[in-house]
Amino acid sequence: MISSAELKKLYLGFFQKRGHKLIPNASLIPEHDPSVLFTTAGMHPLVPFLLGEPHPLGKRLCNVQRCIRTGDIDEVGDAWHLSFFEMLGNWSLGDYFKEEAISMSFEFLTKELGIPAERFSVTCFAGDRDAPRDDGSAREWERLGVAKNRIHFLPKHDNWWGPAGQTGPCGPDTEMFYHAKDMQEGSTDEFVKLSSTGPFCEIWNDVLMQYDKAADGSFGELKQKNVDTGMGVERTVAVLNGADNVYECDTLAPILDMVISISAKGTTKANRNARIITDHMRAAVMILGDERGVVPSNVDQGYVLGRLPIRSVDIKSEYKTIVWTAERNMA
Ligand code: SER
Repeated sequence: MISSAELKKLYLGFFQKRGHKLIPNASLIPEHDPSVLFTTAGMHPLVPFLLGEPHPLGKRLCNVQRCIRTGDIDEVGDAWHLSFFEMLGNWSLGDYFKEEAISMSFEFLTKELGIPAERFSVTCFAGDRDAPRDDGSAREWERLGVAKNRIHFLPKHDNWWGPAGQTGPCGPDTEMFYHAKDMQEGSTDEFVKLSSTGPFCEIWNDVLMQYDKAADGSFGELKQKNVDTGMGVERTVAVLNGADNVYECDTLAPILDMVISISAKGTTKANRNARIITDHMRAAVMILGDERGVVPSNVDQGYVLGRLPIRSVDIKSEYKTIVWTAERNMA
């Protein structure tokens, strides 16, 4: 069994050994970016440096970042989506690019975590009028040992990241999916169907951040080619421990157990409402505990903070007691 703490230590150690400087977790409330309410990824506080400003710690960085994604809120309660999660990341600010980023990801997954190459599927950008098809990433995956039938090309909707707000750094990405041995996709269509079910989920994303989206929707080249990667801590810990859902991760399981212990008799760990309450309570606590201090209100981050417990109440009246208790304790 691997714990979240062990995974973070392995990851940060691996990238520090390869010249990356550790940067601290940034606040969940973006300091210099009014275009978004919450920090949704580790690249957020790095926008000026992705645009070309020199970072005081150099061109290779890594960290573990707390993230809130309200955009995923309707999917929370399924096997893999969370509104709050931790993300491991490594960055190249105009230093290494595609091949080195992919080969470091592969090395970490196969050598440090011991995942066999046949347990991966990967996706690459299929290309459109804004940017060409990413054959270079596919070639690198194949060179490293990922089978050709496990490399899928998908459109912008799936294989493009950013900008975090309306404008700014963005680019095609290549995503790594872990799956159980006996899951074999026969085609890209089948991959898309399987990719969010059972013990088969995206665990890491390497973004090849080379474009700057302008307000008119056009994509210009950035001054430098960057890499922005993100690995979901909860998902990775869950799959490495053989779980088929993120709630079995060591940071979520005790909360879910507590929710179940005070829920209606017969509530199971697979109960979607219990999972949603687990996620929403954790997210609310993390926002409340953030260094930039948010309190419930009618606007912006405070509104989201207030809505998380209320949304849990709306789920089912049988959970009201839990939620109101939690809310009272937070007030
Ligand atoms: N920004 C990318 C993501 O969130 C990589 O960290 O997936």
